[in-house]
Amino acid sequence: MTRTPVFGGNWKMHLDLNEAIALAGELRNRLGSHRGAEILIFPSAPFLRPVVERLRDCAIAVGGQDLHFETKGAFTGATAPAMLTSVGCTHALIGHSERRHVFGDDDATVARKLTAALNEGLVPVLCVGETIEERRAGQTFVVIERQLASALAGHDTAALSALIVAYEPVWAIGTGETASPAQAQEVHAFIREWLSDNLGDPFAQATRIQYGGSVKADNVDGLMTEKDIDGALIGGASLKVDDFTRIVRFERP
Ligand code: 13P
Repeated sequence: MTRTPVFGGNWKMHLDLNEAIALAGELRNRLGSHRGAEILIFPSAPFLRPVVERLRDCAIAVGGQDLHFETKGAFTGATAPAMLTSVGCTHALIGHSERRHVFGDDDATVARKLTAALNEGLVPVLCVGETIEERRAGQTFVVIERQLASALAGHDTAALSALIVAYEPVWAIGTGETASPAQAQEVHAFIREWLSDNLGDPFAQATRIQYGGSVKADNVDGLMTEKDIDGALIGGASLKVDDFTRIVRFERP
């Protein structure tokens, strides 16, 4: 099974409007007709529409960093799934560690958000990952399994067919400390096995699993040699066009 690599740039709460449009324009020039991988960009909500416009008719898709599980209502500050599609988004991050750990999204909330994304036809990028305390306590697989089971319960393979999973160990995000290729591969293999056991092997073999956590131009090649690592979700380095371009154009020996 060959899976098309998929790379995501999570811009988090960075840039202003002019910088966001400029970065989208540079990405369009450098990667707009790239063939070797699928490319996704997750700008802040105020910049979604202008970034979608800047990337129109090129190979880079745009997604929301988060969404609310309700379709509309009195939810100040929140973004409904249909708001994302109405501005041209095709994807959404679901359960990013900063949503879980900074904003308090629990497993039940993440599950509702994933369902809401699917109902709106958005491709969910489901983020899972353990904290350093959980890793030290030998709980990594327990945590990942709980996050997967809770988020994916009740959905069949047809509904989940476009799902992307991102393994983002919390201790590697924004810290400069990357999981080694072997450490990441161990968890990716576990995720694929869990998908196989619960949703069937064809689904597991077809589903892309990204690694995220301090992915840089100088460590992507090593990560991408691992057989269950199908791309990356990139924070800091996605704000630098040279670095992000090199990551997307990773080299396998
Ligand atoms: P960094 O690449 O800055 O560690 O962020 C990773 C991440 O959270 C991507 O979603």
